[in-house]
Amino acid sequence: MNANVLDMNLNTDDFFATVAEKSDGASLRGDYSKIDARYVVKQDWDAYTPEQHALWRRLYQRQAKLIPGRACDVFIESLELLNIGDGIPRFEESSALLFKATGWTLVAVPGLVPDHVFFEHLASRRFPVTVWLRDPEEFDYIVEPDVFHDFFGHVPLLFNPIFADHLQDYGKGALKAMKLDGLSMLARLYWYTVEFGLIQSPEGLRVYGAGILSSGGEIEHCLSSKAPLRLPFDVERVMRTLYKIDSYQETYFVINDFKQLFDDTAPDFTPIYARLKDLQPLAANTLLDGETNLQLK
Ligand code: PHE
Ligand code: CO
Repeated sequence: MNANVLDMNLNTDDFFATVAEKSDGASLRGDYSKIDARYVVKQDWDAYTPEQHALWRRLYQRQAKLIPGRACDVFIESLELLNIGDGIPRFEESSALLFKATGWTLVAVPGLVPDHVFFEHLASRRFPVTVWLRDPEEFDYIVEPDVFHDFFGHVPLLFNPIFADHLQDYGKGALKAMKLDGLSMLARLYWYTVEFGLIQSPEGLRVYGAGILSSGGEIEHCLSSKAPLRLPFDVERVMRTLYKIDSYQETYFVINDFKQLFDDTAPDFTPIYARLKDLQPLAANTLLDGETNLQLK
C-alpha cells in the first residue's frame, strides 16, 4: 500500500510541476485535495449554486439554438435524450443512460488530469468530466475545460457505438504511444477529430468535435467562413499538423462517417510514428501541393 501511495504522490507532484512549467507558473483551477488514485472525485451536485445552474442554462440555450443544421445527428438526438437544459446535470443520472447505450460511464474529476490517467479512463470506457463551471465573465472563453465543455461537448457523441469504440481504442493507443514517443502526434489526432472534427452528412457538412460544439462562435465559423481550410481526413496528414489552442482553427479535417474514423485509426501506428519523427510538422494553415480545400456549397 505504501509503495502505491508514494508512487501516486510522486506522479501527482510531477503533474503539477509540468502544469506550472507549461503555463508560466500558473496552477490548475480545480480542487485536487480529494482525488482518489485515478483523480476521481465526487461531483457534489448539491454544492452548485442557483447562479451556477442559471449560467449553465444560459450557456445551454445559446448552444441549443446553434445546433440544428450544424451538429451531427447523434449529437442532436443524444442531447434530447440527456435532457440537461435545466441546470448542471447530475453525472450519475446521465452516466446510467450512457451506460445503457454504449457501456461508457462518466467520472467526475477536478479538471485536467495527467495524460496516463486520462488515457486509462478512456481505455476503460470511462469519460472524465470536470466538475467546476466557468464564471459569468468567462461566458465566451475559458482557459481550461469546464463542466460545460466536457459534458455538453463530449458526452452526447459517446452515445454513438462506433465513436464510443473509437474513443476507447484511442485511450489504449495513447498508452501505447507514450512508450513509442508518439504522443504529440496522437494529441494532434485527438485535437482535429474529437475536439474539432467535421463530418459529412447527406444534408451537408456537420460538426462532431466537442471544442466546436461547446463554442458560441466557432460552430458557425467552421461551417461557413471562407478563411479556414477544410481537408479530407487523413491520419498521417493530421498527425503532422500543428494546432492553435487560442484561436479558431485554421484547418479542419472532414470525415465521411464514424466508420471511417474507426477504420483509418485501427492499423498499428508504430511505423507512422517512426516515419513522422524525422519530418517537420506542418503549420496549421498549410495547403500542400495536390491537396484540395473542400468547397462550400
Ligand atoms: N491503431 C493505433 C495504434 O496501433 C491506436 C489507435 C486507435 C490510436 C484509435 C488512435 C485511435 O497505435
Ligand atoms: Co474536450
